[in-house]
Amino acid sequence: MTTPGCFITLEGVDGAGKSTHIAWMSDYLRQAGVDLVCTREPGGTPLGEQLRALLLQQEMDLRTETLLMFAARNEHWRNTIEPALQRGQWVLCDRYVDASYAYQGGGRALGATAIQALEQWLGLVRAPDRTFLFDVPLAVARQRLSRGRDAPDRFEQEGAAFFERTRDAYLARVRGTPGRFCVVDAQRGIDDVRQTLEVALDALLHAYPRPTDGSIPQGRG
Ligand code: TYD
Repeated sequence: MTTPGCFITLEGVDGAGKSTHIAWMSDYLRQAGVDLVCTREPGGTPLGEQLRALLLQQEMDLRTETLLMFAARNEHWRNTIEPALQRGQWVLCDRYVDASYAYQGGGRALGATAIQALEQWLGLVRAPDRTFLFDVPLAVARQRLSRGRDAPDRFEQEGAAFFERTRDAYLARVRGTPGRFCVVDAQRGIDDVRQTLEVALDALLHAYPRPTDGSIPQGRG
């Protein structure tokens, strides 16, 4: 059964500019009357945030990294995302399963089979309704990352080949389910990108009615 709320995810390699746009997107949706849960992966629950701290800083085997990403995701899906969607809220999530295919599957060259198996074993059967992939050429992403003020985490410290593989794996995900993705050319200026986002969000607002009288909508039918 399709749950009532709309599930939106944001993806892209580090430095693509995703963080710049997520606050604006959540403001836009809230101003349009959406009851929104804005969350992130890894993280989004108390345990998930503890796992995030480990994942971003602690060296570990690739299998451990992948399992911890999914452990955090399992908590997140069951305790935060699914209950919110069931209540009719919308969920705007900074990264989700596609990030595991891209970073662990592609960047770290684990491949897709193990990721698929974990996804199925956990019963994460509901794909996002819409995924915004912020896509930029690698050189642009690296330049933006180098301007960041925070110390780079374990992923941000990776080299060019890692991010090339990560980006390629994201684009392979798009080829697999093109209808789910909105690929945003994030090389452009912030205002240009916002125009693209606005059109795509308006389409979602049209397709997924928001509850105005406290009732739960019946999905898209
Ligand atoms: P990120 O969204 O980049 O956080 P911030 O904007 O605060 O830097 O996410 C943290 C990192 O986690 C990012 O480098 C990608 C990585 N990641 C994976 O490798 N696999 C996953 O499944 C997820 C969800 C994230």
